Amino acid sequence: MSEEQKFSRRTLLFKLGILINTIVAVIVAVPVVGYLLSPLLKTDRYLSWISLGDIGDFPEGQTRLAGFRSPFGSAWDGATDETACWVRRIQGNQFQVFAVDCAHLGCPVRWFPQSELFMCPCHGGVYYADGSRAAGPPPRGLFEYPWKVQGGKLMIQAGQLPTLSTRA
Ligand code: FES
Repeated sequence: MSEEQKFSRRTLLFKLGILINTIVAVIVAVPVVGYLLSPLLKTDRYLSWISLGDIGDFPEGQTRLAGFRSPFGSAWDGATDETACWVRRIQGNQFQVFAVDCAHLGCPVRWFPQSELFMCPCHGGVYYADGSRAAGPPPRGLFEYPWKVQGGKLMIQAGQLPTLSTRA
């Protein structure tokens, strides 16, 4: 093997090593740079208000299931960004909007108008009509979404799961 061939093989391997190291460095750096720039790219989508429909869709004194799409949804999410909440219209423009997730381990609770109770099918958690805990393993009442009435529509702030950590 001539000295020139050795040199060119060594040069080729050296350049290949640089290329592979560069690719690995870029793969490692992209999420780190994304994390560091995230405060600049942050949007307020999680604070956006979503309409659940006309307030006339929610009769006074009743609790009804309402569906909405996550504000973080993408066109390719399909049905996975559809979720629901329980809307209780107390009277007039007084509402309570509950997360469907049980405060124990998150199973979806159901409303039983006959007994006026929310019940969880997983471990028997029970909640009163106002969302407060009635019985079973849940440590607290149902989580509630912030809501407002605007232009005759019931709006909720659905960008964050309503948990204790999202309370101001
Ligand atoms: S998840 Fe509802 S009682 Fe356990």
